[in-house]
Amino acid sequence: MANLIVVGTQWGDEGKGKVVDILSESFDAVVRFQGGNNAGHTVVVAEAKVVLHLVPSGILRMGKMCILGNGVVIDLPALTHEIEQLRKLQVRVEGSLYIGKSAHLVLPYHKILDVERERHATPRIGTTGRGIGPAYADKMARLGIRIGDLYDPVAFRERLAAALAEKKAQAGPGSLLHTLDPTALFREQMQHFEQVKAFLVDASEVINRLIAEGRRTLFEGAQGTLLDVDLGTYPYVTSSSATAGGACTGAGVGPTHIDGVVGVMKAYTTRVGEGPFPTELTDATGQLLRDRGQEYGATTGRPRRCGWLDAVALRYAVRVNGLRTLALTKLDVLDTLPGIRVCTGYQYRGERLTAFPNETGILAECAPVYEDLSGWEESTIGALKLEQLPKACRVYLDRLQALAGVDVSLISTGARRDQTILVDTSAFREWGLTR
Ligand code: IMP
Repeated sequence: MANLIVVGTQWGDEGKGKVVDILSESFDAVVRFQGGNNAGHTVVVAEAKVVLHLVPSGILRMGKMCILGNGVVIDLPALTHEIEQLRKLQVRVEGSLYIGKSAHLVLPYHKILDVERERHATPRIGTTGRGIGPAYADKMARLGIRIGDLYDPVAFRERLAAALAEKKAQAGPGSLLHTLDPTALFREQMQHFEQVKAFLVDASEVINRLIAEGRRTLFEGAQGTLLDVDLGTYPYVTSSSATAGGACTGAGVGPTHIDGVVGVMKAYTTRVGEGPFPTELTDATGQLLRDRGQEYGATTGRPRRCGWLDAVALRYAVRVNGLRTLALTKLDVLDTLPGIRVCTGYQYRGERLTAFPNETGILAECAPVYEDLSGWEESTIGALKLEQLPKACRVYLDRLQALAGVDVSLISTGARRDQTILVDTSAFREWGLTR
C-alpha cells in the first residue's frame, strides 16, 4: 500500500501530467486536490495529444478512479466540455470520474472579475483569466457556491442572484458584470449540472474508504510549489495550496495516510505570468529552450519565460513539500547545448544567499550564482536506462541530485509513455514502483 502525492517543484508546467500518467499504472485512484481549469496537462497517448484541465490525467487508463476533491474549483461548462472530449476519444468516464460535492464553483462573474482586475491592477499577476482567484476569494470569504448546492435549485437560484447583485453593486459602470442576467446564469449552470450530477460524491468519504481497503491513491498537484498561495512567490501565485500539505485539506485525508511525496522538476525552469524569476534567460538560449521544449501554455497558449535550472528554488521545494524523491522531465531539451548552467546560490546586495527567500522583493533583486557543467551534445530521446545516457548527462544528474539532496527516481526522455527511465531508488522500491 502506498498513497503518494505528486507536486510541481517549480512554477508549474513541470510535466506532471506525464509523470502522473506513468505512475497511475500502479495506483487505483488519482485525486486532484486544488486549482481549477487554470491547469493544463498535455498527455500523449498512442500519438494522440489530449489536454486535460480539470479531470485527472489518470482517466486515460482503464479502470482508474479519478476524483476531484473538495479543494478543487470547478467551472461547470469547462468540465462538461472536457467530459465530451473524453467521450469522443472513447475514454470511459462513467464509473471512473467522481466529483466532490463540496468543491466550489467558478462562476462567469469570477472570470469577468479576474480579467477586469488584471487590466487595472498593480501589481499585475498575469493570471490565466479563468476566474480562479475570485472563486477562491469567495470561498474564503464564505460567499462561495459549492457544486453540491445545485441539488437545491431554489436555494441556488436565490444565492446566485444575491451574489451577482452584490458583485454588480461593487463594479464600475463599464464592467461586463452588468451584462450578466441572473436567470440566464442560473439556467446555464443547472443545464451543465444535470450533465455531471451523477458523478457527485462525498470525495473525502470515497478516498478514505479506498485507503481503508488498502487500495493505492495518487494525489495529483496542479501548478507548482512556487505558485502556492502560502509558500510561493506571493503575490505572483495562484490562489490555492499547490504544495503537498494542500493534498490533505483538498482531498479530506489525514497526513497519517500519506506515504510519500514525489516532486516533478524540469531540467530547466519556466514561468508564465508576472513575478521574479532569477534564472530567466531573455537571450537566444532562452528562445532555444522555448522552441525545443515547446514552452507555450497548455491553457492559454502564452509563451513561457525560460531559464536555467534553479537549485536554490529546488531545495526549497524539497523542504516545504518533504520530498522523498524527484521525477525529472524534458532532459532531452538540453541535448544540443554545449554548456549547461545550474544556479546554486543568489547574490543579494553583496550577500550570498543559499536559501530561497520568501520575500518576493528580495527575490526580485537576486542575481543567480551559476555553476557551469558540460553539455553532452547527443540525443537522449527515448533512453530507457541510465547507462544509455551520455557521460556528461550523468554527471549533470549526479550534480543535480547532490544539490537537491534527494534522488531522481524517474526521468522522462520524450513525450511518449515508453520514453521513460525508472531508476531503482530506495523511495521507489519502498513504494513498489520499480519494474
Ligand atoms: P491564476 O491561477 O489563473 O490565478 O494565475 C496566477 C498565476 O499562476 C499566473 O502567473 C499564472 O500564469 C500561473 N498559473 C496558473 N496555473 C498555472 C499552470 O497550470 N501552469 C503554470 N502557471 C500557472
